[in-house]
Amino acid sequence: MVVTGAHVRPFDPADTDACYEICLRTAHNGADASGLHTDPRIVGEIWVGPYLVRWPDYAFVVEDDEGVGGYIVGTPDTHAHDRWIDEEWMVPLRAQYPRGCFADGTADADCVELIHVPPRVPPEIVATHPAHLHIDLLPRLQGHGMGRALMAALFGQLRGAGVAAVHLGCSPDNTNAIAFYRHLGFEDLRAGFLWGRSTESTR
Ligand SMILES: CC(C)(COP(=O)(O)OP(=O)(O)OC[C@H]1O[C@@H](n2cnc3c(N)ncnc32)[C@H](O)[C@@H]1OP(=O)(O)O)[C@@H](O)C(=O)NCCC(=O)NCCS
Repeated sequence: MVVTGAHVRPFDPADTDACYEICLRTAHNGADASGLHTDPRIVGEIWVGPYLVRWPDYAFVVEDDEGVGGYIVGTPDTHAHDRWIDEEWMVPLRAQYPRGCFADGTADADCVELIHVPPRVPPEIVATHPAHLHIDLLPRLQGHGMGRALMAALFGQLRGAGVAAVHLGCSPDNTNAIAFYRHLGFEDLRAGFLWGRSTESTR
């Protein structure tokens, strides 16, 4: 696929809707989840929105001639992020999405549960790898070095803040992403679900 003008730049709040859309379009083990959800915003409210609001200096996007088609978001401090999620970000969402507002067993209902009980990484992993990240690119921008470039941008920011190591979560079914992470030097921290590495320059 021909990609023209693709480059990484810092996130701008005007990119928010594009980031939510990319999140949905990559949420099914890296593939499009839009057919699984009746609510097009709920996935982004969990996996990308809070980072854009709370940690905008750690968010970068990829833009090409078609617009914003990828992002990396993260936090230098997972414990601070988790506290803020619980005490602030999720509060209005819990009112907007009460338990039972979607039929049991649907992808939307699974997201509602995550809003009420946000996922937590074991403290011993946060102790050694205090930062975490999420990275997603639309298919047109995959395989063009943009994932590596996004990682380099975020890692530079984390190093500047004195953060030595980062973790991320990934479904073991997302074999493409796992191969990418391994190639960039991430190591398995927990049963193929949690991966981590130092923030020194990417391999
Ligand atoms: C996973 C993802 C972020 C990778 O980004 P990308 O832009 O496609 O990867 P890049 O082109 O930057 O690849 C960087 C390096 O990793 C290697 N790599 C990428 N995918 C690979 C794979 N499946 N197997 C082996 N190596 C791989 C590339 O060959 C490249 O190597 P080099 O720089 O040493 O030459 C991207 O494909 C994506 O967003 N996928 C869909 C969403 C997703 O799954 N997100 C992760 C959720 S946990």
